[in-house]
Amino acid sequence: MTTTGSSDLPLVAQRLLGKVALVTGGATGIGECIVRLFHKHGAKVCIVDIEDDRGHQLCQTLGDTTCFIHGDVTIEDDVSRAVDFSVANFGTLDIMVNNAGVGGPPCPDIREFDISTFEKVFDINVKGTFLGMKHAARIMIPLKKGSVVSLCSVASALGGLGPHAYTGSKHAVLGLTKSVAAELGQHGIRVNCVSPYAVLTNLALAHLPEDERTEDAKAGFRDFVGKNANLQGVDLVTEDVANAVLFLASDEARYISGDNLFVDGGFTSTNHSLRVFR
Ligand SMILES: NC(=O)c1ccc[n+]([C@@H]2O[C@H](COP(=O)([O-])OP(=O)(O)OC[C@H]3O[C@@H](n4cnc5c(N)ncnc54)[C@H](O)[C@@H]3O)[C@@H](O)[C@H]2O)c1
Repeated sequence: MTTTGSSDLPLVAQRLLGKVALVTGGATGIGECIVRLFHKHGAKVCIVDIEDDRGHQLCQTLGDTTCFIHGDVTIEDDVSRAVDFSVANFGTLDIMVNNAGVGGPPCPDIREFDISTFEKVFDINVKGTFLGMKHAARIMIPLKKGSVVSLCSVASALGGLGPHAYTGSKHAVLGLTKSVAAELGQHGIRVNCVSPYAVLTNLALAHLPEDERTEDAKAGFRDFVGKNANLQGVDLVTEDVANAVLFLASDEARYISGDNLFVDGGFTSTNHSLRVFR
């Protein structure tokens, strides 16, 4: 079986062969997992992140079909430059993944909610996603094709799962997904989002100082999330989310647009409080 130098998958199994992708927040967490999976499936991948060391390290590991550019998704020039950098390095842009996001600190009392925190969460999660969509469209519209996938959340469907700004921001990402899908359909461009339940990443533990992100804290997180999950016997991991993004990015999803794909084991389809089946 023929394989390429950069992927151990046979060519016929590479679902993004020949495609060029840009992943925001691709240096760590879910984004890193998306980068690794896209690379395995034959894509050329550009990473934009504020974590320069992690981004460069990842590219060194994966080789010259990946590249890194420093960029803050809240700054339009950075996003624009990252899109142009992908095109300059790899010739085009087929897939834009708006993954960079933050949760913001927990705040159980709205009266205490710090407005600068609110603005920061909206800037990264909403403005950052919009800028990614805008500058991807600049390249994709003339080509009459492309796929945009944004990371949303179960907090796009339900309140009470995270801080107000996070929930509001993820509802907004879903709104942008539908709105931009409505505009870009005429150009053959698909726009979707993926909504995971809780996954163990830095974002999930962001409320803890780094030196408290111990194995015990991680086990506690997994235990809490597992107990409150609908689907039992399976732990949600970053690969599950990346697989959903891969599907929407690939031609297998060629007629899917404006969709919010939940990777939540039925969490948002279930009313947990009545516990009829437990
Ligand atoms: N982890 C979860 O439980 C979970 C659940 C649902 C949705 N999500 C969503 O998935 C996405 C990824 O989350 P994660 O858990 O991997 O988080 P993470 O904190 O592990 O990774 C986020 C990445 O984004 C980068 N980033 C942050 N701000 C940035 C900025 N201004 N510009 C560029 N890059 C920036 C970070 O450096 C980091 O590499 C987010 O949009 C998040 O809301 C996560």
